Amino acid sequence: MNKEPKILVVDDEAVALQNLMHVLKKEGYKVLGTQNSPEALELIAKERYDLVLTDLKMEKVDGMEILVRTKEHHPDTEVIMITGYATVKTAIEAMKEGAYHYIAKPFKLDEVRKVVKEALEKVRLKRENLNLKSQLKVYTGSSGIITQNKQMKNVLSLAAQAALSDSNIVINGESGTGKELLAKFIHASSNRQDGPMLSINCGAFNEELLTNELFGHEKGAFTGADQFKPGLIEKANGGTLFLDEITEMPLSMQVNLLRVLQEKEVLRLGGTTPIGIDVRFIAATNRNMHEEVQLGHFRNDLYFRINVVSITLPPLAARKDDIPVLIHHFLDKYSREMKKNVLNISPEVADILTNYDYPGNVRELENIIERGVALTRGDTIDPEQLPDDLRGMVFKTFRRAENGGIPSLEDHEREYIKWVLNETEGNKTLAAKHLGIDRVSLWRKMKKYELS
Ligand SMILES: Nc1ncnc2c1ncn2[C@@H]1O[C@H](COP(=O)(O)OP(=O)(O)OP(=O)(O)O)[C@@H](O)[C@H]1O
Ligand SMILES: [Mg+2]
Repeated sequence: MNKEPKILVVDDEAVALQNLMHVLKKEGYKVLGTQNSPEALELIAKERYDLVLTDLKMEKVDGMEILVRTKEHHPDTEVIMITGYATVKTAIEAMKEGAYHYIAKPFKLDEVRKVVKEALEKVRLKRENLNLKSQLKVYTGSSGIITQNKQMKNVLSLAAQAALSDSNIVINGESGTGKELLAKFIHASSNRQDGPMLSINCGAFNEELLTNELFGHEKGAFTGADQFKPGLIEKANGGTLFLDEITEMPLSMQVNLLRVLQEKEVLRLGGTTPIGIDVRFIAATNRNMHEEVQLGHFRNDLYFRINVVSITLPPLAARKDDIPVLIHHFLDKYSREMKKNVLNISPEVADILTNYDYPGNVRELENIIERGVALTRGDTIDPEQLPDDLRGMVFKTFRRAENGGIPSLEDHEREYIKWVLNETEGNKTLAAKHLGIDRVSLWRKMKKYELS
């Protein structure tokens, strides 16, 4: 519900009808009313209301029928029953049939306002979740990479294209942006999909162990080598080898890897006959590889051999539109895993999570949701289930700038105008109206702040 919520009021009693409509209009809702209940059925069939308030006892078509028809046409629309004391029992029946609540006549205005507001909030959450679910269907695909972000989709199509060639690929990106997931996607999209995909973290071993893992050894290559052992490069034959944290590989080993890439053969430690291999290499790093080359930490020739195609994953903070779809993906994932049914986050949590900047990227978001699902007792993650430092953000509307300074009023004005323009999809007339200034002033400010 981006616009004001739409409510239909049905009551054959003129005074009650007018009263209700008056109260609801004053709350800012878009309200339509009718005394004629058969007409109400036509209205419901034609249009989706967010909420229907209906008298229970009416001639011809009664409230029960309105309820049933409404749910038939629009399952996520809520219905509230208005009822005289005599019919409270029936009203309770109505709730079993899916009515949201009932209001007894003569109604207290505060109660009407409160119940209506809560019902509409429920509708909003339901619609939001439905929306997110339909987006998930569109974008998940089989890769397991969830995104609705344009830049990410470009990355994926580049990756899918590169997958079909046999070129080596380097995936750049901050920690937790999904480099390993992307590597799996590339393997699965390639002609090597039926071959093995193996991976090794080059930063997790010392040189000796890493060499042994990658290249393997012949029997008797060193004391204790009482059997031959094939290396990962060999084992990945016909498939893909993922070299994680490639820049951590010692320089001396880089020479050996370069030889493998050039000759397409591998020599086991202590061996004399090279073994031919057909392997595609995908490497990942969260460092700037070019810089590593210049610093002398990474061999230039290896850099060119392996960095044939270079793909960069944007940090999560640069694709905030992925946050909601990822949240729902992880809610679903961890609900299944923990056999719970936590499918929502409270509006406060939504606010915090969409504004946070995630230094740990998708992995950090995933951990937050996993923890939330584990801790909550209901079906919703509330601020109490967030890590301490995040929970504190509820009260922090203003934050220090990146350089630690306190932002000026102008800084905020610029960001605020930018936000409003974004919300109004660039409609300047509408934006000016929301900002409470005229179009010319808006135009001047946009020019001043270089907003287009
Ligand atoms: N777009 C995405 N959709 C769904 N899950 C994702 C996405 N991106 C990342 N993840 C999940 O986030 C976690 C981190 O992803 P991954 O291990 O691929 O990141 P990484 O870039 O390799 O991180 P690091 O540099 O720390 O090794 C994984 O559990 C992964 O499944
Ligand atoms: Mg990784």
